Amino acid sequence: MEQIDDQQIKADDRRYVLHSWSKQKAIHPSIIKKAEGIFFWDDSGKKFYDMSAQLVYLNVGHNHPKLMEEFKHIGDIPFASPGFATASTAELARKIIEVAPKNMAKVFFANGGADSNDHAIKIARMVTGRYKIFSRYRSYHGATFGAGNLSGENRRFAVEPGLPGFIKFETPHLYHEKIDFESEEAASDFYLDRLEHQILYEGPESIAAIFMETIPGSNGVLIPPKGYMEGVRALCTKYGILMICDEVMSGFGRTGKMFAVDHFNLEPDMMTFAKGVTCGYNPLGGVIVSSSIADYFDDHVLLTGLTYSGHTVSTQIGCATLDIYKNEHLVEHAAEMGHVLAERLEQLMRFASVGEVRHLGLFAAVELVKDKQTKEPLMGYGKDYGKDTEGLMKKFVGLLMEQGFYTYSHDSHVMIAPPLIISEQQIHEAMDLFELALIKFEKELFSDHPVVAK
Ligand SMILES: Cc1ncc(COP(=O)(O)O)c(C=O)c1O
Repeated sequence: MEQIDDQQIKADDRRYVLHSWSKQKAIHPSIIKKAEGIFFWDDSGKKFYDMSAQLVYLNVGHNHPKLMEEFKHIGDIPFASPGFATASTAELARKIIEVAPKNMAKVFFANGGADSNDHAIKIARMVTGRYKIFSRYRSYHGATFGAGNLSGENRRFAVEPGLPGFIKFETPHLYHEKIDFESEEAASDFYLDRLEHQILYEGPESIAAIFMETIPGSNGVLIPPKGYMEGVRALCTKYGILMICDEVMSGFGRTGKMFAVDHFNLEPDMMTFAKGVTCGYNPLGGVIVSSSIADYFDDHVLLTGLTYSGHTVSTQIGCATLDIYKNEHLVEHAAEMGHVLAERLEQLMRFASVGEVRHLGLFAAVELVKDKQTKEPLMGYGKDYGKDTEGLMKKFVGLLMEQGFYTYSHDSHVMIAPPLIISEQQIHEAMDLFELALIKFEKELFSDHPVVAK
């Protein structure tokens, strides 16, 4: 590559690069100059705690020595198109099946999260002969046309009016629910009853799949109430509908178990994955299918494919990544660190602007409100992407960045999902920074009813 200085990189970036989900004039991307573990340094020399693991994918942290070493072996395995068997693809598929729920049998490899979801939609339609796909409003499944139609939140608007047969249903979000349920189980009953009605209204014989992020991630880490996921599984079985869990963000240790479905003893019919399988060191995603779906394709053509399905470099990095999870006990570590983070998050409830904290393992969100009593969100639903006229969320994320706490927000919540290698001390250091940003924020926003003291 050419050696060009930072100013030139920024000038070329401004002139030639289109950045996602942004008005180009409104953004001023900095450059990551150096990165190590949970930290990175930008071009001004400022150090950041990477508290969202970039886009919730760098589970092993930046610059992991084992993965950097693995790159030196790229080329040992010859490049081969998907029609060939390759050592890395076969090994990675085996390793994934070994850690997936018991009923899972085979893996179809794709390039990332969105296209994996597209392939899962196609597989569900092929296997069932049905065409309707249910998914949820508070969800994000990716930016391709298929995954865009699956997604329920406002990033789907770019694909509207969209494809026929994509039906949305409600995600349980008890914090904003008007009904005061006596228990989580009662809430689950309520939502499951609504879902069953919707299935009946749509005609179960036309519904191929119910697609859900096991725990919706960028829509606020919405942990399902007790019994809900098991209830959806039961409805799927009752009506012959496939249950597909999108584990793109929640998979590979993020929640303190290998997959989020493991918290609910669930055996979905398919699971999609991406991010954590290579931790973004090379793009890779895929669909894990149950043994009955795998068997189906013994005698039926799998009418889908990609030039880079099972790309040699990505699957090689994937194998090395899965070894790191195992050898460094990262999933167990995430569960342990999850308790430390949980304690710090619960302490945030003393702040006037913190409405709710939600967390499981190292997967967390802090929901900010203008008023704790009314739960009025800091920013109305769907006001991301240039519509946040008050700019309050942008302001808060700016204050976090000022403190050296890097993350991103969506709607009125801030994501907290650091690399799984984070230590107890680093969690405390980072959460101290988060609190400092909150104090500054509330001094301006809530000057009439300031922060409750420690
Ligand atoms: C749950 C979920 N599914 C799918 C995707 C899309 O993945 P990708 O950006 O790799 O296409 C994302 C991205 O954040 C995601 O969080």
